[in-house]
Amino acid sequence: MKFFIDTANLDQIKEAQDLGVLDGVTTNPSLMAKEGITGKDNIIEHYKKICDIVTGDVSAEVISTDFEGIVKEGEELAKLHDQIIVKVPMIKEGVKAIKYFSDKGIKTNCTLVFSVGQALLAAKAGATYVSPFIGRLDDISTDGLNLIAEIRMVYDNYNFDTQILAASVRHTMHVIDCAKIGADVMTGPLSSIEGLLKHPLTDIGLAKFLADYKKGN
Ligand code: E4P
Repeated sequence: MKFFIDTANLDQIKEAQDLGVLDGVTTNPSLMAKEGITGKDNIIEHYKKICDIVTGDVSAEVISTDFEGIVKEGEELAKLHDQIIVKVPMIKEGVKAIKYFSDKGIKTNCTLVFSVGQALLAAKAGATYVSPFIGRLDDISTDGLNLIAEIRMVYDNYNFDTQILAASVRHTMHVIDCAKIGADVMTGPLSSIEGLLKHPLTDIGLAKFLADYKKGN
C-alpha cells in the first residue's frame, strides 16, 4: 500500500518524507489556500518545491472545468516535473480529458469520486488513480469504506490498472481499514500516518528495557 500525505504544508511533507515511508503527495486548491498559496505563479512554484522534497507522485489539480481548459492546464502542469500527476475532477469534461491524457501517456488522478459508477468511468477513461473521498462520505452518514470495497471488487472483476487512492482519510483507523480492504494508496494527514506508530505496550516495554539496562551499568 502506498502512503501519500494530503497537504501543501512543506514542513509536514518533509517530516513524512524523513520517516522514509512516503510515496507521494496530494494537494487541492483548498489545501493550497490553507497554506496561503494563491495565484497561478505561486501555486506552480509550490508544486516545484514539493517535488524537490519528495521522490514520489505529486498530484496537482486543474481549475478549468471545460475540456480544452483542462487539457491546456494539465499539459502545463505535467511539464513542470515528471513526478506531477494531473488531478482532474469527476465531471463529463474531466472524463474526456482523462482519456486524452491517458492516450498521451500523462498520468492522472480522478478526484471528487463518491460512487462506484464514477470510479468505473474513471477506470474506463484510463485514470492512473481514482480518488474516492471516504471521510466526506462518512460526514454525511454514508459508509466511505464500503465504497472502497465496492470499487475494489469492480476493478478486480475486470483487472483495471487504475489504482484506488483512498482520499479524505481522516485518521489512523481509516488507514488500517483501507489496507484491509486492499486500497492501493491512501492519502491522509501526517497524524494519520504517525498514529500507526502508537501503542501503549510499546512505550511501557521500551521504558522497562531502558530501566533494566541502566541497572546493569
Ligand atoms: C484528495 O486528494 C483530497 O485532497 C482530500 O483527501 C480531501 O480531504 P478532505 O475531505 O479531508 O478535505
